[in-house]
Amino acid sequence: MTSVGIVYHSGFGHTAALARAVGEGALTVPDTTARLVFAEDAARDPNGLDGYDALVLGCPTYMAGPSAPFKEFLDATSAIWLKQGWKDKLAAGFTNSGGYSGDKLSTLTQLMLFAMQHGMVWVGLGLPDGGGSGSAPPDSLNRLGGYAGAMAKSDTDLGLEGIPDSDLATAAALGRRVAVCAQRWQRVPEGVAQ
Ligand SMILES: Cc1cc2nc3c(=O)[nH]c(=O)nc-3n(C[C@H](O)[C@H](O)[C@H](O)COP(=O)(O)O)c2cc1C
Repeated sequence: MTSVGIVYHSGFGHTAALARAVGEGALTVPDTTARLVFAEDAARDPNGLDGYDALVLGCPTYMAGPSAPFKEFLDATSAIWLKQGWKDKLAAGFTNSGGYSGDKLSTLTQLMLFAMQHGMVWVGLGLPDGGGSGSAPPDSLNRLGGYAGAMAKSDTDLGLEGIPDSDLATAAALGRRVAVCAQRWQRVPEGVAQ
């Protein structure tokens, strides 16, 4: 059995919907557990995440980076970083913003570098750019062409209806990929250098 923890912040519910999609995707892989964790709770008790095989980090893009409550969680892990307590744990990320770009890559880059500082192993999205060709339907999987993680665009005036199904499906694909990778990763005998 492998466990996936999905740590997220969502100010207005859009990123929460994506987090649920990541969890649903992870649960399509047999022998997987997936749990959603509020970043606010994880900031108070980051060691509560120690037992997960993989952590999927998710937050909205606010002012071109991770939202402040999510950054608070990231900073709260510094004691774990000091001991490299999450070394070799799998990590992945997703973000959501109002703009097509909205500087989402800046957020994913910060999440990825956070994982690198911890010695974690980053799992990218693993999907081709779904929106790059003129013949691509606008609702393709990975329509926003992210590689470092799952990207979503939420129309800011439409509430939760503003999240396209394709972006939810892209988030689910990330969750599934992380769960598959976590099972592969478990086959490495303990104590063997990667
Ligand atoms: C403080 C703040 C800053 C924002 N900054 C950006 C931004 O830099 N780029 C962008 O495209 N959208 C930006 N937005 C829009 C949000 O990313 C968007 O509304 C998102 O869906 C919110 O997700 P949530 O409902 O999970 O909080 C910002 C929204 C807020 C409230």
